[in-house]
Amino acid sequence: MFRPHIIAIDGPAGSGKTTLAYRLARKLGYFYLDTGEMYRAVTWAALHNQVDVADEKAVTDLANQVDIDVRSPSVIDGRVNDVWVDGQDVTREIRRPEIEASVSVVAAYPGVRQAMTLKQRQIGQRKRVVMAGRDIGTVIFPDAELKIYLDASVEERAMRRFKENQAQGETLSYEEILAAMRRRDAIDSTRKVAPLLPAEDAVRINSDGLTSEEVFHRVLALFDR
Ligand code: CDP
Repeated sequence: MFRPHIIAIDGPAGSGKTTLAYRLARKLGYFYLDTGEMYRAVTWAALHNQVDVADEKAVTDLANQVDIDVRSPSVIDGRVNDVWVDGQDVTREIRRPEIEASVSVVAAYPGVRQAMTLKQRQIGQRKRVVMAGRDIGTVIFPDAELKIYLDASVEERAMRRFKENQAQGETLSYEEILAAMRRRDAIDSTRKVAPLLPAEDAVRINSDGLTSEEVFHRVLALFDR
C-alpha cells in the first residue's frame, strides 16, 4: 500500500476537504490538521481583542504572539478536534459567520501566513499527516507525495454550508451564504501570497453530485499501488 508521509488536500470552502481529510486520517492512522482552523483562530483572537482586522500590522503582531493549539476532541459533540486560543476553547466559535466574514482578509496578510506556515511545517515534519487547506500542495509541502485538489460549483458548496449552518441553528439564508462564499473565493484566489490554486501534480476531483462517501472511495483507490 502507498504510504505518503504528507497527504495534502486543498480546495475552496465547502468542497468537502475537511470531511475527506478527517476520514482519511482515521482510516490510515495519520494526524489530521485543518489549517483553516488556524486562520480562523487568528481571526477569532483579533475580534476578541478588539484588533481591527483591517490593521495588517496589528493582526500580524497578534498572529506571531497568539498561542494556537489544535488537539484531540475533549467533548463529544460532532467536533473532530479542539481548537484552543490562549487557553480558551474556541472550537465552536471559530465556525461562526462573523469569523467567516473576516477570515479571508486575515489569511491574505503575508506576515500572518508566514507565522502559520512555520507551525504547519513543524507539525508535518514530526508526524504523518493529512493536512487540509488552500496552499498545502503548492506552498507548505510542495514535495508532498500525494496531493488532492477538491472542487465543486459555488452553488453546491453554498448549499452544503447552508445545511450545515441550519443544523447548528444559524439563520443565514442560502443567498447570504452564497454571496459570502463568492466573496471569500475571490479573495482567496486573487491574493498575492499563496493563492488558492491546484498544484500541477495534484489529483483533481470535482465533487458536484458526489456524496462524501463516493469521494472518499475514489481517494482510497489511489492508495492501491
Ligand atoms: O471550512 P472552509 O473551507 O469554509 O474554510 P477553512 O478551510 O476553515 O478556511 C477558512 C479561510 O482560511 C479560507 O477562506 C482562507 O481564506 C483561509 N485559509 C488559507 O488562506 N489557507 C489555508 N491553508 C487554509 C485556510
